Amino acid sequence: MRIVDLIRKKRDGGELTREEIKFLVDGCTSGAVPDYQLSAWLMATLLRGMTRAEIAALTEAMLHSGEVLNLSALPGKKVDKHSTGGVGDKTSLVIAPAVAAAGLYVPMISGRGLGHTGGTLDKLESIPGFNVNLSLGEFRRVLAACGCALIGQTAEIAPADKKLYALRDVTGTVESPALICGSIMSKKLAEGIDVLVLDVKTGSGAFMKREEDAVHLAELMVETGVRMGKRVVALITDMDQPLGRYVGHALEVEECIYVMRGEVRNDLSELCIELSAWMFLLGDRVATIEEGKQLAAQMISSGKALAKFREIVGLQGGDPATIDDPRLLPKAQSTRDVASPGTGFIASIACEQIGVASCVLGGGREKKEDSIDPAVGIVLHKKRGDRVVSGEPLCTIHYNSDARLDEARRLIELAYRIEPEPPRRARPLVHGIIGGK
Ligand code: URA
Repeated sequence: MRIVDLIRKKRDGGELTREEIKFLVDGCTSGAVPDYQLSAWLMATLLRGMTRAEIAALTEAMLHSGEVLNLSALPGKKVDKHSTGGVGDKTSLVIAPAVAAAGLYVPMISGRGLGHTGGTLDKLESIPGFNVNLSLGEFRRVLAACGCALIGQTAEIAPADKKLYALRDVTGTVESPALICGSIMSKKLAEGIDVLVLDVKTGSGAFMKREEDAVHLAELMVETGVRMGKRVVALITDMDQPLGRYVGHALEVEECIYVMRGEVRNDLSELCIELSAWMFLLGDRVATIEEGKQLAAQMISSGKALAKFREIVGLQGGDPATIDDPRLLPKAQSTRDVASPGTGFIASIACEQIGVASCVLGGGREKKEDSIDPAVGIVLHKKRGDRVVSGEPLCTIHYNSDARLDEARRLIELAYRIEPEPPRRARPLVHGIIGGK
């Protein structure tokens, strides 16, 4: 078999066999296939799509590119949640400790920033000392000790995803339902979980801009998980504006601390409670979603979620003092307000542009080897439906270099649409639910 023939077959709209996909994924994992051939195949796949059989073969090959954990020795349900990615999408940092604090195990393997979206690993690494690169032995130890561990793909777990994810990030090949399904489900199925809650984003800041595409992706992932014997639900949730008010790695950790202190109630806290409730329900911790929501809210109001987060940070090498004093997180040297050009109501926010603005400031990668600046980002003062007066700040940019400050400012200015009347219809936070039976 030759890789170039597989690229050409996909380029011409053909269907790859299970063996051909395994050959490609194995070559990716071993390093035998160079990045330029993988990138060409990724682009052909994005443009031509994959059949259900190809997606199943891809997920299986990626899952078995590394070890599949067996956590059955731990007494209790193992549950996890994963998002398809968005802007200001930081729910994992609240959900993982909240759910672990209520007695379930959360073995969470996350990703880095992808395209215009931020990744959980990059956010966690903004906490001084936090180590997301635990060995599997350490991962198990932290999980057994406190009920939760948060790591990235290792050389042992779904290594094919680690490689493909980094390439997709910088080659414009993220927005493929087949590749997203393979990426998410290979990592998640390798974790040794019983339950998976998927947060499938839709709207201007999501990879799936149209709701029907989000539903299609959700169905693919739920079907894949159920076939592998897991209890899976997908919530289709809104990403038509940033989630919460903070965008950028350290800034997002800060907002999560405020949520866990019970100081902030907004769309972010609401979604954290909703997703945690599904984890409790499918993990047999509660009998109804309402009970699940109450339990999640209780974990926050009692301070147990925050205490658990502090414990996780400490066990993974981070400085727990940061959790009590977010001023210890990396801070940008400068801030600049973006003023509203008019008076009226925020009709919409082109959410992807806010994510790109954060990347331009140094919060994202443009090449595989780029490092990111954890301190930069954007704090939104106005969200959809809010009234604004001309000259009032729409948001504040946090930056360390003014090299691309004007570009970021321009992106933000263009992202906001201001109308004389408030928007007629509110967009729901949860658009739909797939699976979960
Ligand atoms: N999250 C992942 O882990 N993979 C994707 O492809 C998208 C979001």
